[in-house]
Amino acid sequence: MKAIVWFILCFIFVHNVQNIDILSLDTFKWKLTNRNKNIEEQVNIPGGIYSDLNNKGILNESLYYRFNDVAYRWIAKENWTYSVKFSINEQDLNNKNKELIFHGLDGHATIYLNQHKIGKAINSYVRYRFDVSELIVQENYLEIKFESPIESANRLFKNAKHPVPPNCVPNEYNGECHINFLRRMPASFGWDWGPAVPSVGIWKSAELVYFQNDVIIRDITVSMISESSTWKLLVKVFLDVPLRILESIKGQIFLTLFVKNNKTITSSEQINISPNTKFHEVAITSNILVAKNLVELWWPNGYGSQNLYQLSATFKNEINENNKSILIGFRTVELIQKAVNESNLEHGLTFYLSVNGVPIFAKGSNYIPSNILPEKSYNTNTLQYLIETAKISHMNILRIWGGGRYESDEFYELCDRNGILIWQDMMFACSMYPVDVEFLSSVTNEINQQVRRLQFHPCIALWAGNNENEAALRGNWYNTRSQFMLFKKEYIQLYVDTIKNTLLAIDTTRSFLISSPTNGLKSEKEGYVSKNPYDDLYGDDVYPLPRFCSEYGFQSLPSLSSLQKVATEEDLSSLNTEFMKHRQHLPLGYIYLVYMMFLQFSVPPITDLNSIIYISQIHQAMSVKLQTEWYRKWRSTLLPNGKGMTMGAMYWQLNDVWDAPSWSSIEFNGKWKMLQYYAVNFFSPVIITADMNLNKTITVNVISDLTNNIVDAELRIEIYKWDSMIPVDTISKILTIEKESGQTVISTSVDELIESKPECKSSEFHNGEKCFLRLTLNESNTNLKYENFLYPVSFKRIKGLQNCSIKATVESCSNSRQCIIDIKVDTICLFIWLDVGDIPGYFSENGFTMTYPSKKILFNSRENITTTKLEKFLTVTVLDKKRLDSFTLMTIDTKQDSSMFEFSFKILVEIIKILTMDNFD
Ligand SMILES: *[C@@H]1O[C@H](CO)[C@@H](O)[C@H](O)[C@H]1NC(C)=O
Ligand SMILES: *[C@@H]1O[C@H](CO)[C@@H](O)[C@H](O)[C@H]1NC(C)=O
Ligand SMILES: *[C@@H]1O[C@H](CO)[C@@H](O)[C@H](O)[C@H]1NC(C)=O
Ligand SMILES: *[C@@H]1O[C@H](CO)[C@@H](O)[C@H](O)[C@H]1NC(C)=O
Ligand SMILES: *[C@@H]1O[C@H](CO)[C@@H](O)[C@H](O)[C@H]1NC(C)=O
Ligand SMILES: *[C@@H]1O[C@H](CO)[C@@H](O)[C@H](O)[C@H]1NC(C)=O
Ligand SMILES: *[C@@H]1O[C@H](CO)[C@@H](O)[C@H](O)[C@H]1NC(C)=O
Repeated sequence: MKAIVWFILCFIFVHNVQNIDILSLDTFKWKLTNRNKNIEEQVNIPGGIYSDLNNKGILNESLYYRFNDVAYRWIAKENWTYSVKFSINEQDLNNKNKELIFHGLDGHATIYLNQHKIGKAINSYVRYRFDVSELIVQENYLEIKFESPIESANRLFKNAKHPVPPNCVPNEYNGECHINFLRRMPASFGWDWGPAVPSVGIWKSAELVYFQNDVIIRDITVSMISESSTWKLLVKVFLDVPLRILESIKGQIFLTLFVKNNKTITSSEQINISPNTKFHEVAITSNILVAKNLVELWWPNGYGSQNLYQLSATFKNEINENNKSILIGFRTVELIQKAVNESNLEHGLTFYLSVNGVPIFAKGSNYIPSNILPEKSYNTNTLQYLIETAKISHMNILRIWGGGRYESDEFYELCDRNGILIWQDMMFACSMYPVDVEFLSSVTNEINQQVRRLQFHPCIALWAGNNENEAALRGNWYNTRSQFMLFKKEYIQLYVDTIKNTLLAIDTTRSFLISSPTNGLKSEKEGYVSKNPYDDLYGDDVYPLPRFCSEYGFQSLPSLSSLQKVATEEDLSSLNTEFMKHRQHLPLGYIYLVYMMFLQFSVPPITDLNSIIYISQIHQAMSVKLQTEWYRKWRSTLLPNGKGMTMGAMYWQLNDVWDAPSWSSIEFNGKWKMLQYYAVNFFSPVIITADMNLNKTITVNVISDLTNNIVDAELRIEIYKWDSMIPVDTISKILTIEKESGQTVISTSVDELIESKPECKSSEFHNGEKCFLRLTLNESNTNLKYENFLYPVSFKRIKGLQNCSIKATVESCSNSRQCIIDIKVDTICLFIWLDVGDIPGYFSENGFTMTYPSKKILFNSRENITTTKLEKFLTVTVLDKKRLDSFTLMTIDTKQDSSMFEFSFKILVEIIKILTMDNFD
C-alpha cells in the first residue's frame, strides 16, 4: 500500500469535529413489487420477502405450517423489486462525495438510482459500495431488482463451462437445484434437516454516506503474540476510504486499550491518503505492547473466566472524527498436530486445541443458523438463549457449520463472553463449486470482509474452508470420479489459492483447515485431497475411534406440543401421514429411526406418535451420550495400533430451523430435547462411565478434564434388580481422579459383577437381563456428584421391570421464574420425562432414572409463571412395564444364531411393511 504514508506522532486536536454524515435508508418506507405489479406493498428494511409478505397478510399462514414451505414456493420463483424515494437537503447535495452502502443484499440484484444502473450484487455475505456522487439529486428513486434465486441458480448452471455437481438435492428435501452457484446460505435450497426457503431481500441496513475528507473505521484486527512478560499486539485498522477522493485525506488514527486499574495504553498513527490511490479498503498497522500484569487471561468455559478489554480506534482530523470499539481477550490458541509417538511416525498426529498452553478436550456441538430466513437469524433473545444453553451444558466449543451463514457480531461477542470457542467454517458445503472469475472474485471479497470482521474475537479457535467437500470429492459422492483431476484442480483453486491465501493474509494466528472432516496436515501433504479423509490417525473424523469427532448424531422427533403448532390433529395421527413424511428429509429416515428403536425397545404402534417421539428422544439421548462418553474415555490413552488420544466430541446438531425430525438437541422454539439434558451431564468436567463390549467385559471409567487431581473421591457401584429399590449389592472404592485423563478403574466380566449374584442370574443368552448398575462418584470438597447407569441388555429384554406410579407436584414458584417440583415414585422408573407443553424454559434435569423414592427438580421458566399454571400443563411420561409391553409389533425370530445380516434384513422388511401400510390400525 504505497499510497499511504504513516508515522507515529503526538498531536493535539482542538476544533469542532463531527462524525461522518450518514443517511440511513432504513428509516424510509420502501415499496415492494412483483413483476406484474399485482402485489405492491409498503415495507421496512432490513427485512426479507417471506417476512414482508407475511407481515402484509399476503401469506395467510405461517411459513412453517403444514406444507407451506412448498405451497409458498411461488415467492422464490418471482422477481421482486424493492424501491424507495428519498429526498436530501441542499447542503448534503452540495457534498461532492456520496456513496450508497448496502450491508447485506440477499440474492442476485441489479441496483438502479434515478433510472441509472449503478451495479449488481451477487453475494449475500458481502457489503456493497457504489459511488453515486454524480447521480444523486434532491428527489431520488432507488430500485433494487432481485432475480428469482431459483432462476439465478439455473441460469448460472446453464452458462457454466462444465456441469458442477450435484445436479440437485434429493427429492425428499422438496428443494431447489444448483445452490452451489450462488453465494448465499447453502441450506436455503433445502437440507436433510430443513425446508427450502429461497428468499430475497435487503437483509441488512442500507445507507447513503457523505464522505468529506474522511474515512470510516470498518474493522479492527488484532494478532497477539505471548512473550515472557508482555503481549505483543499487531493491530490493524481497516478503513473504508471514499471511492472517489478529491484531495488528500489526512488525519490520525488513535488507539486506546483499556486495561486493569483504569489504565490505558495508547498509540497513534498518521494517515495520508492520496487522491490517486487504487485502494479503498486500507489497513493502518500499529504495534502495542501490553505488560502481562495489566491484563487477565481469557479462558474457554470450564477453564477460567472470560476477561475482555476494550480497544478503541478513533480517526480524527480537523473536521471529522469517528471511532469503533471492540472487546479483545488475551489468550493463545493453537491446533496441535504433532506425532503421537515420536519413534513411530506411522501412528499419525494428534489433533487438539490448546488454549494458553492447556490442552482442551473440545466438548460441544454444531450450530446451524437460528432461522432459515436471514432477516430473522440474528434475533438477540434467541442467540442469547442458545449460547447460554451451550454454556450451561458444559460446552466449550461450537462449530459454525459451512452450510449456513457467518453469524452476527453479537453472536461472536456472546461466545467471547461465555467462553464458547468457535470452529468457523467458510460457507461451502456438500458440493463442488464453480471457479469462474466472477465467482472467485466474489469469494475473495467475502473472505476479506468476513475474516476482517471476525478476526479479533478471542472465541474463534480455528478456520475451515468447507464442510465435507474433500470427503465428497475423494468418495465420489457426486459422480466426479471420471473427472477427478479437473475437480481436484478446481478444489485447490477455490479453497487453497483463493480462500486460504486470502485468509492467511489477514490472520496467521489460527490454523486453517481446508475441509472438515479432514486429515489436517496429512491432507495438505497429500495434495489437499487425502486418500482417506476419514483416517482415524489424523485430523477430525467420525466413529469409531478418531482423534477428534467433529460430527456424530442421531435423529429424533420434536415434541408433540411443538408439532401441534404446525399440523392438524389428523397430520399427527400416525408416523405415516403425508405431513410426517413431508417433514422427514433424510432418505429412508424413518426406516433408520424405527430400526434403531426396534433394536432397543421394539417399536411403538406408529399411530402412537407420542410414544414414538418419546422413544426417539430416549434413543437419541442415549446414543449420543454413549458415543460421547466413549470419545472422552480415550483422551489420554494411546493404543498399540496408534489409535486413541481423542480430544474432541462435537455432536450434530445443536439447534433447528423448523419442527421436523432432525439431529438437534434443541427444538426450533427453544424447547430442550432429552439429549440437551443429557449433554449437561455427559459434558460435565468429571464423569464416571461404564461400558460393556461384545465379550461382556464391563469397564468402569473415570474421566476428568480438570487441570488438578481430585483425591479421595468415592466411587460406588450399586447393583439393582429391576423390581426393587434396594440394591442387591454395593461396591465402593476410594480413588484419586487424575487430571486431564480417562482412567479405567474397574474391568471385570458381566458374570463376575452381575450374574454371580443369585438374584441376578439370567437365562443363557442375555446376560444381565435382571439387573443393572448405578454408578456414582462423590467428593465433598469439590462438590463433585455424578450419577450414571449401565443397562447391560436392550430394554426390550429386561426382566422384572414394574409399572411405575409417579406423583409430580409443583411445590412452589419463587421470583415467578423458578419452580420446585417434587417427584415421588414407588418403584424403579426409567427415563422420567417432564413436559410443560409450550411454557418456555427448562428443567434442572429430565429424562432421568429413579432408583429411590423421591427427588426435587427445578423448572427455570423464561416467562413469569404461577404454581397453578405450571401444574396445569405438567405431564410425566415414563418407560415402565406397561409401556414396554405395548411395543410388540414385530415378531421376528431373534435367536442369536441367525446371522446379523439376515436378522437386520428381516427387520427392515418388516419396518418397510409397517411404514408403507395404508390403513394401519
Ligand atoms: C389460507 O389460504 C389458503 C388458500 O387460499 C386456504 O386454503 C387456507 O384455508 C387459508 N388459511 C387460513 C388459516 O385462513
Ligand atoms: C426474472 O427476470 C429475468 C431477467 O432478469 C427474466 O429472464 C425472467 O423471465 C424473470 N422471471 C419472472 C418470473 O418474471
Ligand atoms: C476506576 O474508575 C472507576 C470510575 O471512575 C472507579 O469507581 C474505580 O474505583 C476505579 N478503579 C480503580 C482500581 O482505580
Ligand atoms: C466514539 O464516538 C462517540 C460519538 O459518536 C463518542 O460518544 C465516544 O466517546 C467515542 N469513543 C471514543 C473512545 O472515542
Ligand atoms: C512408540 O513406538 C515404538 C516403536 O514402534 C513402540 O515401541 C512404543 O511402544 C510406542 N509407544 C507408545 C506409547 O505406544
Ligand atoms: C473377545 O474375546 C475374543 C476371544 O477371547 C478375542 O479374540 C477378542 O479380541 C475379544 N474382543 C474384544 C472386543 O475384546
Ligand atoms: C415478572 O415478575 C417480576 C417479579 O415478580 C416482575 O417484576 C415483572 O414485572 C413480571 N413481568 C411480567 C412480564 O409480568
